[in-house]
Amino acid sequence: MDPENEPLHDEQLPGPTLWPAGFAIGVVVILVGLIIDPKVISTIGGVIAIVFGALWTREATAEMRRRVAPVEPERREAAAAPATAAVADADSAERYPRSKFLESATIGLGGVIGGILTVPVAGFAILPAFLGQKGHRVDLGPITDLAQGQWYIATFTVDPAEAETSRRTAFVRNNGSVTIGGQQVPSCTIISNRCAHLGCPVQANGPTGAILGQKNVVEHTANGEIVLRPVLPAGFGCPCHGGQYDTEGNRTAGPPVRGLDRYSFELKDGHLILLSTYSVSHVDGTGAQAKIHKYKETGPGEHVDGWEQILYPLNPPHH
Ligand code: FES
Repeated sequence: MDPENEPLHDEQLPGPTLWPAGFAIGVVVILVGLIIDPKVISTIGGVIAIVFGALWTREATAEMRRRVAPVEPERREAAAAPATAAVADADSAERYPRSKFLESATIGLGGVIGGILTVPVAGFAILPAFLGQKGHRVDLGPITDLAQGQWYIATFTVDPAEAETSRRTAFVRNNGSVTIGGQQVPSCTIISNRCAHLGCPVQANGPTGAILGQKNVVEHTANGEIVLRPVLPAGFGCPCHGGQYDTEGNRTAGPPVRGLDRYSFELKDGHLILLSTYSVSHVDGTGAQAKIHKYKETGPGEHVDGWEQILYPLNPPHH
């Protein structure tokens, strides 16, 4: 019978191993990590998948490597001794079988196609979590230009490269300073106008413009671009579906699921610098004494606390 057509005996088949199972577990850990913690858990899953994948590949190609490995000199001498018929048998055994070549080619081609399809998708899904968001800084001008206790509507461009598409509005109040750990630190309330329902622009419920009789309480600009308009809000309201918030951004009525987002800030050379935004479930107290229940920035309509937060395991990047 033609040796190539002989049925494979049991001893020729690779035995079951743990490597494929370990590889599958690594992939599962990566996917779970995408939901829970892409940076840590997905990285661990990636390491598991790579290690077990490498072991699996090594084992799967062991037979092939054994066939193509050069024959050691001693073994070559030993092989030269037997009769002509035995040499012919050895040559036949060392030839690379066509079925093996087709099997390897099919697996290799499948791997290449799979990589071409999945690597870009996985890259777009995973990389943002590792790269983080581009940090923007917006200079609202000297803090002394903002009268203490007075609200201003600040409109500004977050990223000049994106021009009007990155125009944002925030409600800003200079609270003066607060004592923390025996030190006086500046306090500002800076609330985003993005509604916590579906993201419509929230507006101040109150008159805007020059506030008579108060120093500095006039509309002015910072850096020639940023407009700071005084306002006397009784709260903030959303025209889209009637969402209402108090002056600390707490939801008081309507469909929003949490309070308004806020901007973190710093003071540099006496200038008020807006940094990134964060989400807020609610705020206890007011002004400099407010206790802010803050969370990583999440999209509009997403709960950040309570049992409902488990319904929003993934938080794609937001601006
Ligand atoms: S988007 Fe503001 S209430 Fe719906």
